[in-house]
Formats: sequence, C-alpha cells, structure tokens
Amino acid sequence: MTDIKEKLSTFTQDFNSQLGEFFPLPEGPEKRVVQAMEYSVMNGGKRLRPFLVTECAALFGIPAEKSFRTAVALEMLHSYSLIHDDLPAMDNDDLRRGKPTCHKQFDEATAILAGDGLLTYAFEIISDEKTHPRPVIRSRLVRLLAEAAGAFNGMIAGQMLDIYAENLKNPNNAEKLIKNIEEMKTGRLLRYACEAGAVLGNAQGEKYQALIDYSRRIGIAFQIADDILDVEGDQNLVGKKLNKDAEQGKITFVSIYGLPKAKQIAKDFITEAEQVLNIFGNKAKTLKELARFIIERKS
Ligand code: IPE
Ligand code: IPE
Ligand code: MG
Ligand code: MG
Ligand code: MG
Repeated sequence: MTDIKEKLSTFTQDFNSQLGEFFPLPEGPEKRVVQAMEYSVMNGGKRLRPFLVTECAALFGIPAEKSFRTAVALEMLHSYSLIHDDLPAMDNDDLRRGKPTCHKQFDEATAILAGDGLLTYAFEIISDEKTHPRPVIRSRLVRLLAEAAGAFNGMIAGQMLDIYAENLKNPNNAEKLIKNIEEMKTGRLLRYACEAGAVLGNAQGEKYQALIDYSRRIGIAFQIADDILDVEGDQNLVGKKLNKDAEQGKITFVSIYGLPKAKQIAKDFITEAEQVLNIFGNKAKTLKELARFIIERKS
C-alpha cells in the first residue's frame, strides 16, 4: 500500500509539473474560460486515470513520455465530467477536490463552457501528431475516447441513468440498473485508460483482453468505493461534501446492498482484477497494487 501511494504521488507530481503549459492564457476577456479550465484541472485530483494509461502502456515497454499526451487528454475529459457533474442541474455540489466547485469559484455559465472547453481540448490534444506518430493509432485513440465518453454506453449514458434513477421508487431490477450506471458513468473512462495503454503498446490478443477485463473490474470497484466514501469517508480527505447520495436519492451499491455487502462486492472485483493480470507476471505488480489501493483509498 505504501509503495503504491509513493508511486502514485511521484507520478502525480511529475504529471502536474508538466500540465501548466497546456493552459496558455488568451489576451482578451475570453481568458476567463481558460482560467476556469485550468482551475478545475490543476485543482488536485488523484490522477488515477493518467497513471493507469502510463502503467498499462509501460507493460509493453512504452516510456511515460510517450503515453503522456494521451494521459493528459483523458484527465482533461475527466475534469470536464466533474465540472458538469457538480452543476446545480446535476449533483449541485459546492466542494470538489477540497476547493469550491468550478461554478462556485467562477459562475454557472463559465463552468458549462469550461467543461465544453475541456471536452473539446481532450480531442485536440489526442489527435495531434505529437501524441503518436502513426495516424492509425491516433485515430483509434480518438474513436475509443469518444465512445467511452459518449451517450451510447459511455459516460454520458451512465450520467443520464444516474439522474433517471434518482428517487425512483422500487426500481425494476435494481441490481442490473446500478451495475449499468456504475459501469458506464465511471467504468468507461477507467476502461479507456487501460485500453489506451494497450493501444499505445500495440497489445494484441490475450494481453489486450486481459487489460480490458482488469479495467472493467477496477472500474466498478472504483465507483463502489466512491459510494462507500460518500457514506463513511472523512470529508477533509475526500474533498467533497459527504452523504450527498442518500440526500439526493441516488441509487448506489450501498443503497441497494448495504455497506458490508457493497464492500465485499468491491473486494471480489479487485481479487478478480488481480487474477486477470497474472498473464503479465511480475510486470503487473504496480497495477495489482493499484487495484487494492482503489478500494482501500481514503480520498
Ligand atoms: C471522482 O473521480 C468521480 C468518480 C468517477 C467517482 P476521482 O475520485 O478519480 O476524482 P479525482 O480526479 O481524484 O478528483
Ligand atoms: C460521477 O459520479 C461520475 C462522473 C463524473 C462521470 P459521482 O457523482 O458519484 O461523483 P462524485 O462523488 O460527485 O465525485
Ligand atoms: Mg453524479
Ligand atoms: Mg457527483
Ligand atoms: Mg460519488
């Protein structure tokens, strides 16, 4: 656990130190939207998705500097999803990463635009020649990111279901519903992180599939852990207001199964996630540790 915390913290420092250059400020008053984008991206964050991209690509001998831009693009897109998730029309949250949410720090219109700006910027970054010399790889990375973030089984579909399910009385097949919500709203971007690493590493066959299998399991366990932290986390560590899910009548693994069973389900997913990595032998040590960290984290 300490090992992985140190690795993640070293990675995060390095990653953050190179991020500033992605936000050149325009001269005119439109710079406000770029300031809001920068505020939301540079505002802490565990950088778990970039770390996953980097570690998955590293399994195939790809050095961190070669997966960096893909990792940055994904973090931009993830940060957009958080800005919009926090808006009054969605989860209406005031606190994110221990700081005021984007619409609180700036204003609602700016926050909407900052989210839009980060979403489009992600594709600008990833499709640039600097991301990968081969157009076929870049176009695959773009396509997969669009699918992962999108409305057809992607993050947006998951967010729609999450809102649809709010305050639903006696939902039909609640277990299936919650699995769909969590797989899509959170799982798809985590899956993209691993799949992008596999694409950058030119992974094939069983190894490619192993990373997909791993990502699906950590994706769902990650959101279960988020739901658990909402109930029994420490707000100072989590950096978000707690007990929001119950207040807003959200359907979560905790609301359906209760805390002990939700914890057990998350653990089982993580055990499976570790197992599917055996195909990589010792090389997957960090990814296995990361899987554990996902359910043991306090923030
Ligand atoms: C929060 O994601 C939103 C969910 C998908 C649960 P993270 O917990 O990765 O948030 P940051 O990036 O570290 O702030
Ligand atoms: C958010 O899920 C998932 C996305 C942003 C796509 P939550 O609404 O549970 O995330 P938090 O708890 O606000 O970070
Ligand atoms: Mg939400
Ligand atoms: Mg939320
Ligand atoms: Mg949550």
